Amino acid sequence: MSSGLDKNDIAKNISKVKTLSELESIRIYYLGKKGIITSEMKSLSSFSNEQKKEKGQYLNDIKNFIENELKIKKILLENLEINEKIKKEKIDVTLPPRTYEVGKIHPISQTIYKVINIFGEMGFSVESGPDIESDFNNFTALNIPSHHPAREMQDTFYIKGLKQNEDKVLRTHTSPVQVRHMQKTKPPIRIIVPGRTYRSDSDSTHTPMFHQVEGLLIDEDSTMAHLKGCLIDFLKKYFEIDNLKYRFRPSYFPFTEPSAEMDIAFTKKNDVLKIGEGNEWLEILGCGMVNPRVLENCSIDSNKYQGFAFGMGIERLSMLKYGITDMRGFFDSDFRWLNHYGFNPLDLTSASEI
Ligand code: PHE
Repeated sequence: MSSGLDKNDIAKNISKVKTLSELESIRIYYLGKKGIITSEMKSLSSFSNEQKKEKGQYLNDIKNFIENELKIKKILLENLEINEKIKKEKIDVTLPPRTYEVGKIHPISQTIYKVINIFGEMGFSVESGPDIESDFNNFTALNIPSHHPAREMQDTFYIKGLKQNEDKVLRTHTSPVQVRHMQKTKPPIRIIVPGRTYRSDSDSTHTPMFHQVEGLLIDEDSTMAHLKGCLIDFLKKYFEIDNLKYRFRPSYFPFTEPSAEMDIAFTKKNDVLKIGEGNEWLEILGCGMVNPRVLENCSIDSNKYQGFAFGMGIERLSMLKYGITDMRGFFDSDFRWLNHYGFNPLDLTSASEI
């Protein structure tokens, strides 16, 4: 480093500097307490006034020049340092993004929405009733005799009442809502009742809590033909199969007379279930003309009014449509299961879709 006070030399010295600490050394070298400029300033006292003025001005000029050069160099070095730092601090764009979960519609809810939509288009409105029912609504009013197997302890969850004769049951079907509705409404009646039901049963095709949808239509002239047409239309629309193969089988329910069960055909090839064709049958619902005794139990004149009722299992409808094999999966609350079988909320069934 040249020790002279030539501006060119000084500028050269400063331009060679590579780090901020080197720059500080240069500052000390010129401007520090013992630096060249400082000692030159001190030595001014030995000069005449004339010389003091001249030399002093010259030293001040050099001092300002150095300070300015140092300032500029400092900014350059600081920028350089920041750039180096940014270069080293690379952002790792290969990091996977944070996952976020989107809620899914449970297949049971999806099935209920679909069922409501189809029956809604046929003019049925939705009704509901409580899960905890009176023995009267669940059994007696529906003409279910006291020896009926549905009343057995192993089949029904009973809840002890506070007083005698106030015992309740977890409803074993949605049919008690027929009773509730007929007691408070005059015909014509056209309702469906989706809801939870309970039976003391548990295996791969039964869970203690499950869902049914009830249907009830009462007016002056509806017949078994209307019942059949209504259910055939429903199943064709629900399964989206126009030439669905089905059959009605005579059956027995205390609250309908005559009664029937409806089966749909299916085949199973290589473990894949195909609905609506083949030679095997799957029971899908129970139905019949409302027993006049039930109408009378609900204070409806059975000489004037008649109609039909049906009931089907929501889980079974859902399993068949979406290929779900074990019913217990519906209620295990396993997030992976729901992710697999659930429905995107934006894909919700809308009436216009059907
Ligand atoms: N409640 C009957 C059941 O749970 C189904 C049903 C409803 C049958 C209405 C006929 C009429 O099995």
